[in-house]
Amino acid sequence: APDPNIQPPLLGKTVLITAGGTREPLDPVRYLGNRSSGRQGLALARAAQAAGAEVKLIAGVMDVQPGPELRGIEVVPVETTEQLHGAVLREADTVDALIMAAAVADFRPADYAATKIKKSDDGTNPVITLERNPDILAETVTRRKEQGIGPGVIVGFAAETGDESTDPLQLAQQKLQRKGCDLLVFNRVGENLVFGQDTTEIQILASEAAKEQLAATGSEPEPGVRVRGTKQQAAEAVI
Ligand code: CTP
Ligand code: CA
Repeated sequence: APDPNIQPPLLGKTVLITAGGTREPLDPVRYLGNRSSGRQGLALARAAQAAGAEVKLIAGVMDVQPGPELRGIEVVPVETTEQLHGAVLREADTVDALIMAAAVADFRPADYAATKIKKSDDGTNPVITLERNPDILAETVTRRKEQGIGPGVIVGFAAETGDESTDPLQLAQQKLQRKGCDLLVFNRVGENLVFGQDTTEIQILASEAAKEQLAATGSEPEPGVRVRGTKQQAAEAVI
């Protein structure tokens, strides 16, 4: 049984978690989407709640349904990146930590067809022009830096495969620097790794500033913590 004298580590803290994928509509019946299952984000929500935090979950499109264990968690459903962006901005200033586990679409169709796109008889095919979505994580970091508002802890995720010439860990290190977040959870993805699976392999990378802060509080910084196991175990390590 838990020792009643030991307080849960995140008691009194509020953690905002984004999970799942986004869908960018093309016409009333079609969208561009990704293969995020939402499993890692849900595991994070459970782990944060178990650690005593008040959890707010911004839930994109998932192929798992949040179970009864998520009772007590405020869930904000979103579909598009624009909605996710709005929801994060609305909540970001009142939370202690933001964990961006959602798979956010980098692009959306520049034009939405109000009626279903039809095949033409003349043999020409439609061309979909894309435009960039806002980078929610980078924007949250910039707001904190420039206006001093927003979550004290900002955590990003990065799924990388690497290629013939680049090690995925190196890409993740560069992404941590580019994004400017405090922690970046690097996910090694491959053929059967990560998407839709219950097991995962992660490495938690900390920014220089976060390492210094950890050192200043006297807690043992654990740079580059690696976890190979279930998404729940990975989530507990992140929390
Ligand atoms: N992210 C975000 N807004 C976006 C894209 C990504 O907030 N428009 C967040 C993700 O939720 C994740 C982190 O940024 O926590 C890294 O996402 P990733 O797709 O790996 O980074 P990108 O900068 O989009 O780089 P890439 O070109 O490799 O996709
Ligand atoms: Ca991306």
